Amino acid sequence: MNEHVAGRTVFRTSKLEEADGDGLNPTNNRTMGEIIAARFSRRDFLRGSMAATAIAATVSPMALMSAEEAKAATGSKFTFTEVEAGVDETHHVAEGYDADVLLRWGDGLFPDSPEFDPTNQTPESQARQFGYNNDYVGYIPIDGSSEHGMLVVNHEYTNEHLMFPGIVTVKDGEVEIAPADQKRVDIEMAAHGGTIVEIRKEGGKWQVVRDGANNRRITANTEMELRGPAAAHERLKTTADPSGTKVLGTINNCAGGVTPWGTYIMAEENFHGYFLGELPEGHREAQNYERYGVPDGSYEWGRFHDRFDLSKEPNEPNRFGWIVEVDVEDPNSVPKKRTALGRFKHEGADNIVSRDGHVVFYLGDDERFDYVYKFVTAGTYNPDDRAANMDLLDEGTLYVAKFEEDGTMEWLPLTFGEGPLTAENGFESQADVLIETRRAADLLEATPMDRPEDIGPDGETGRVYVMLTNNTKRTEANAANPRVDNAFGHIVEIAEEGGDFAATKGTWEILVKCGDPSIAEVGATFSTETTKNGWFGMPDNCAIDADGRLWVSTDGNSPKATGRTDGLFAVDTEGDARGTSKLFFRVPVGAEMCGPLPTPDLATFFVAVQHPADGGEDWEGFGRPSYYEDLSTRWPDFRDDMPVRPSVVAITKQGGGKIGA
Ligand code: FEO
Ligand code: CA
Ligand code: CA
Ligand code: CA
Repeated sequence: MNEHVAGRTVFRTSKLEEADGDGLNPTNNRTMGEIIAARFSRRDFLRGSMAATAIAATVSPMALMSAEEAKAATGSKFTFTEVEAGVDETHHVAEGYDADVLLRWGDGLFPDSPEFDPTNQTPESQARQFGYNNDYVGYIPIDGSSEHGMLVVNHEYTNEHLMFPGIVTVKDGEVEIAPADQKRVDIEMAAHGGTIVEIRKEGGKWQVVRDGANNRRITANTEMELRGPAAAHERLKTTADPSGTKVLGTINNCAGGVTPWGTYIMAEENFHGYFLGELPEGHREAQNYERYGVPDGSYEWGRFHDRFDLSKEPNEPNRFGWIVEVDVEDPNSVPKKRTALGRFKHEGADNIVSRDGHVVFYLGDDERFDYVYKFVTAGTYNPDDRAANMDLLDEGTLYVAKFEEDGTMEWLPLTFGEGPLTAENGFESQADVLIETRRAADLLEATPMDRPEDIGPDGETGRVYVMLTNNTKRTEANAANPRVDNAFGHIVEIAEEGGDFAATKGTWEILVKCGDPSIAEVGATFSTETTKNGWFGMPDNCAIDADGRLWVSTDGNSPKATGRTDGLFAVDTEGDARGTSKLFFRVPVGAEMCGPLPTPDLATFFVAVQHPADGGEDWEGFGRPSYYEDLSTRWPDFRDDMPVRPSVVAITKQGGGKIGA
C-alpha cells in the first residue's frame, strides 16, 4: 500500500466503499435462495416482480408531474410545496422557508478562534474552528428550550483536494493529490472529530454563542477512555497505552445520536481507511482485520503517527469502530468509547427508552452484506437523576437482526457462551465477541443487508425505519433485500413485538424500494402520488419527528446516478399516503445531505451539507474534475478567495411555525 506516498487519487467515501469490492462478509448467509423459494415459488416471485413493474409503468402518472401540477397527496402529513429536483451550485428549500447557513468549515467556535484563512491553515487554528465534512447534527436543549441549546456535529472525514491549495494535479481527467507532509496530516486530524457549541435563536435567526462555557472541539487526538466489556483487554493494548483503556481521538464519525440524559453519541464508521502498513507475520488479528477491510491506506496519517501503522502498533485498529459518548455539560470530560455496543462500521446511534425504561440503540453497519443491530441497556433510564444514567451504556445486550421470509424477524443476542460464541470459535470472553462483532454475527447467521445506514425508531407506533442505501454487488436477493443489483436502496419498516423496543422479535415489511418510478425496470415502489421531484435513491439518514413524520436524507444522488442532487425528503408512512415522498430541501452539486435534526417544537430543522463540490464531472454545468483551484461550486460564500465549505444549515418557516405542516 505505497501508492499513496507517490500521490494518490481523490479520496471519497464512495472510493472507500469501492475498495471493499463485493463487501467483506465471507459467509454464505447471503445465499437466501432457499428462503425466497419458501416464501414465493420462483414463478410467483417473478410474477410478483413483474406485477410491481407493471404498476410502476402504468399507474404512476404523478411520477411524470412537476411539483406545481401535483396536488397534496391524499391524507399526507406534509403540506409544503415541494422543491424541483435538479442540479446546480446552491441549495434550495421549499417555498415559504428560510435556509440559513449557521456554521461553515473554519468558523470560529471560541472567543480566541483565529479568523479562517484557507491559504494559511494550521493544526492549531483548525482545532479552534468548526471542522470539515459535517455529518450528524444533534441538538441538546438548554432548560428544555427549542431556541437555546447545544449543537453537536460530527466531522466525518476530510477531502484534501477541496481543502488545501496547491496539492492537486489533474492527469487524464483524474485528480491526483500530492503526498502529505506532517502539517497537512495534523490539520486533517484536527478537522476530524466533532463540535459542541452553544447556539441561540435571536430575532428569529440562529446565532453561535462563541463564548459558550461548554463549547468544545473534539479531534482525532482528543484523549478518550475505553469502557465496557472490551476495555483493558490484551487486544486493546498498545505501546502508548499498556492499560488498554486510553485512546487518542475518534475518526470517521458519520451519524450519531443524543441520549435522553443529554449526552452526545458519535458513531465511528469507516475507520479502516486510516490505517496503513502490514501486520507482523502470523499476527492474531489478521482474520479480524480482514473482516473489517483494515488496512485501507486512504489516509497518510501512519507515515507520521506510528499508531496508524499496523507494522508498529498492530492493536490500534481494535480501538476504533466503537460508539463514543460525550458529556456536553463538561468541556473537560473524557469521552467514553462504549465497547458494549459492538465494533463495526457504525453509521448512527438513534435511541429510545423502552416501556420498561431500558434504553434501546439502533445501529447499522454500513457495508455491503453487513448487518442491522440493536443494543438494550441492562439498567433503566432515570429521568430524575442525570448522573445515574452516565454509565448505562457499559452494560447490556447487543443483538443482530435476522429477517425471515415470512415477514417475521428476530433479534439474536451476541452473548459470549451462547450458541456458537464460544472458545471453539475463538471467543474467550465477551470482549472477543465485541472486538469481532461482525464474525460473531456471521456465526449467528444474521441477514446480510444492502448497506444499513441510519435506523430510526418511532416512539408513537413502535415501528423502526431502516435505511438501506444500496448494494450493486448483490446477485442473490433475500426477502428483506429483494432486489439484485440494488442501485437505489430501500427502506425496511420493523414493527417490534407488542410495540416494545426491547422485544427480541418483530415483524417487518418494505416501506419503499427507491429509484425512479417512471422507469419500470428500476422496480421502485413509491406511492403513485410521488412526483418526478419527490422520488430519491440512496436513503442514508432519517429522523422521525415529534409528530411521527419520517424525514429521509440521501447520499449518492448525482447528475449521472439520478439526474438530481441529494436532498431531504418527507415520506408518508400511514394510510393512503404511505410511500409518498416529497422533496423539501436539496444540496449543491457534489454534496451529500445529512440530518435532519428537528428542534423539539419542530420550528427548526438543522441539516448538514457535506462534501459540496466533491464531484461535478457528470454535471453539464461543470463537466470536469473539481478541486481547490477549480471548484464545481464555491457554496456557501461564492467568493473567489474562499473555497467551498461544508456547512450546517438552519431551516425555519417564514413567520414561524412547524416545518412541513
Ligand atoms: Fe458515512 Fe454510511 O455513510
Ligand atoms: Ca457521510
Ligand atoms: Ca451520510
Ligand atoms: Ca452514506
